[in-house]
Amino acid sequence: MADSRRILVTSALPYANGPIHLGHMLEYIQTDIWVRFQKLRGFEAYYVCADDAHGTPIMLKAREQGISPEAMIAKTNVEHQADFADFHIGFDHYHSTHSDENRELSALIYNRLNDGGYIKTETISQLFDPQEQMFLPDRFVKGTCPKCGAEDQNGDNCEVCGATYQPVDLKDPKSVVSGATPVLKDSVHYFFDLPAFEGMLKEWIRSGSLQEEMANKLAEWFEQGLARWDISRDAPYFGFEIPGAPGKYFYVWLDAPIGYLASFKALCEKTGINFDDFWKEDSDAEVYHFIGKDIIYFHSLFWPAMLDGAGFRKPTNVFAHGYVTVNGAKMSKSRGTFIKARTYLDHLDPEYLRYYYAAKLSNRIDDLDLSLEDFTQRVNSDLVGKLVNIASRTAGFITKRFDGKLADSIDTTLFDEFVAKGDDIAKAFEGREFGRAVREIMALADKANVYIADTAPWVLVKNDDTLSEAHQVCTLSLNLFKVLVTYLKPVLPTLAAKVEAFLGSELTWANRGELLVGRAINPFQAMVSRIEPAKVEAMVEASKENMAKKVEGPLADDPISPEISYDDFAKVDLRIARIAKAEHVEGADKLLRLELDLGGETRQVFAGIKSAYAPEDLQGKLTVMVANLAPRKMKFGMSEGMVLAAGPGGKDLWVLSPDDGASAGSAQPGMRVK
Ligand code: MSP
Ligand code: ZN
Repeated sequence: MADSRRILVTSALPYANGPIHLGHMLEYIQTDIWVRFQKLRGFEAYYVCADDAHGTPIMLKAREQGISPEAMIAKTNVEHQADFADFHIGFDHYHSTHSDENRELSALIYNRLNDGGYIKTETISQLFDPQEQMFLPDRFVKGTCPKCGAEDQNGDNCEVCGATYQPVDLKDPKSVVSGATPVLKDSVHYFFDLPAFEGMLKEWIRSGSLQEEMANKLAEWFEQGLARWDISRDAPYFGFEIPGAPGKYFYVWLDAPIGYLASFKALCEKTGINFDDFWKEDSDAEVYHFIGKDIIYFHSLFWPAMLDGAGFRKPTNVFAHGYVTVNGAKMSKSRGTFIKARTYLDHLDPEYLRYYYAAKLSNRIDDLDLSLEDFTQRVNSDLVGKLVNIASRTAGFITKRFDGKLADSIDTTLFDEFVAKGDDIAKAFEGREFGRAVREIMALADKANVYIADTAPWVLVKNDDTLSEAHQVCTLSLNLFKVLVTYLKPVLPTLAAKVEAFLGSELTWANRGELLVGRAINPFQAMVSRIEPAKVEAMVEASKENMAKKVEGPLADDPISPEISYDDFAKVDLRIARIAKAEHVEGADKLLRLELDLGGETRQVFAGIKSAYAPEDLQGKLTVMVANLAPRKMKFGMSEGMVLAAGPGGKDLWVLSPDDGASAGSAQPGMRVK
């Protein structure tokens, strides 16, 4: 490797429609450790990321919340950044794909691809929701599996029999958005000509050292043959409109990776780094993307092809990791193992998780199990029992017995051995073999502890003859500690900062061999505390609560009833009715008798609203009624329907009236309420 390297690193951009969870955190922690390692080694390294803010799910989620997508993604951006900062993820810049930089770069890349002849149009037929007036992505269509007949299956695959199919193949398809039956509709789509890049891609793949699993996947994809990629979506869509194609938007996955460039561009503008130095075709800077195994296709085929077609350099490499499982299973909301970053932070120190993930990470695409018991045990035994123990067993003597000063000279044999190991450890970090790095560091920690146990400074300090030996033992131990903490600095930046303050010395890879002797250090203070299993349990409990959303108000005492299907709902016929007549009922203290005019049909309904309304207040007003409820024989006569009312009861009860709504002017008796 060159003496001076310029390195740009990214993590995948998290979607802006949900919170960061401990699965995501694997990626950001892995990348952050790698970047911190490069910086610690003295290289010029930058780490950028952004929120992935476009697409149908984000548009619909915002609609559901009754806010604009812009407002929703702004709020999420703040939350994501706070989660990352609190996990000590040291981004040099964090951006959004919904930004000016990204809009410009997306247009630039698209225009260059178009000029190069790599964009084609084709009319395709897709499922369209006639009620919402929108095309439906696969996951927004549900229906009966064409193969096994299982109901309520997703638009692209059946969870019961495992069949994969096109949404149009579903029997009895329904739009997830409105419940309406989708229809087929034609529309012009824009395609990126991926097959034109096959030769280039094969060569690019050979030129780097790809992970073995990734190379195998790619070989499979090449064998299946590359297909054109549909990069356009019709309005309504939250994204960027395609230049020269009104009403057509870039599919979110087109502008998402361009978000890497956009974020870096914003960093360049902030700091004066030269953008082109990193992205021009013949750049000698290094560019790496860290991603999860689910998005390899986008990063190893579409993305390099887009860059190549638009005259930019391609990434030096793409590093994929596996998925996090918790206690041996997929993260689960009901078990409380779908743990949000924020819930974790409410209970535990972020460096515990950084350490645990590092200890279990390799450069392969294997899944990683966060076993909460093993996590507790491992962190306590390694960080508290082994690492910090080296300092806590020796630092006190320096302060109390030696005036806070380290010995002037010591035998450096063991120290030299620790320093020499650094080359191996650096190789492990560089190769993303963090687990191996941690094992080597902990083996050294064991050695240091054996040395302390064997020399027993607590015995040596009791005797004047051996006092100076005790001074040397403690000084050497603290120097060993310093080397180990230097190695762990990329993993445990906060611990390292505390140790730097304690030793009064900055820790870098280059100065790890410098001996600290003949100088004062600060009194030792507790640096890492043990994980209390009760806190882990509390975190799991809190994650379970997150599931059944904490509610106050009416829903707390009266939770929402079991879900009904749209078909169930459609059976309820709600109509506007005029209260033609309202009167007291002899002998009934709660009921009023209403005569409801449905515009041609009259119904008698007994309603328990006497406590809130006098008959004369209601007469002549419009209300909403269930018109197709089976008649019920009541003590005072037949009740032929139900009026809708809300409120806790007594005086606080309101008959729902379309008079109160904004569009009351056009409400007519007999109209259907939707
Ligand atoms: N927005 C896309 C990425 C666009 S990059 C140009 C996306 N977002 S995501 O929020 O779903 O995921 C972000 C990253 O977190 C991805 O690399 C994904 O693989 C990773 N992970 C999400 N859940 C994960 C686990 N349970 N375990 C490990 N990584 C996981 O994909
Ligand atoms: Zn099926």
